[in-house]
Amino acid sequence: MNALTSFFKRKVLRINRDRWNYQYDKGLWDGLKAIDELARFSVIVGYVKYLKPGQPEVMEVGCGEGLLQQRLQAQNYGRFVGLDIADVAVENARAQADEKCTYRVGDMDTYEPDGTFDLIIFNEVIYYSKHPLKTLQRFSQYLKPGGLLIVTINNHKRSDKLWNSIKDGFALVDEATTVTAKTTCVCKVLLPK
Ligand SMILES: C[S@@+](CC[C@H](N)C(=O)[O-])C[C@H]1O[C@@H](n2cnc3c(N)ncnc32)[C@H](O)[C@@H]1O
Repeated sequence: MNALTSFFKRKVLRINRDRWNYQYDKGLWDGLKAIDELARFSVIVGYVKYLKPGQPEVMEVGCGEGLLQQRLQAQNYGRFVGLDIADVAVENARAQADEKCTYRVGDMDTYEPDGTFDLIIFNEVIYYSKHPLKTLQRFSQYLKPGGLLIVTINNHKRSDKLWNSIKDGFALVDEATTVTAKTTCVCKVLLPK
């Protein structure tokens, strides 16, 4: 795609997929790999291993370049499905994936998963849904009995409002807050009501 077409799709049509592809292509999300992002991934890895030991089936919505799956490591999942709207990110995730992983390109506001999961994870992504509560509830239908959602939201001026907007749909199982040199991030484990 030439630069003018890309500009038009991102800035005029405001097509989400093109905007995210552009940003990944330019390396604007490379910071997610840095040490000051590690704490939130580590909390999720801990929750996955504690809550669903063995070989759980895990889905990550808005998986980016597959950093969570790489940090979780193959011995801690039986199946890992990653979904992201950005083809560029998904291609990078696929390049480092093992045979238990499937990476898909799609929009969380419409995507229908294949099968059911022990855990469905939204790590720094629920902000980008048009209807956060509806999206979480829709994905909850793809949880196995006893399945859980794990959601992280970085602290910012609208984060309390966002947590409030989803809290009625779920019981809180546990939460942990990580503070790094860069961010404060809240991670909640949620059981659909
Ligand atoms: C801040 S990044 C977080 C990536 C990854 N979860 C992490 O923690 O490193 C947000 C991700 O959400 C993806 N995203 C944004 N809108 C989306 C949508 N509607 N459906 C699926 N993925 C989306 C972006 O492409 C991006 O990879």
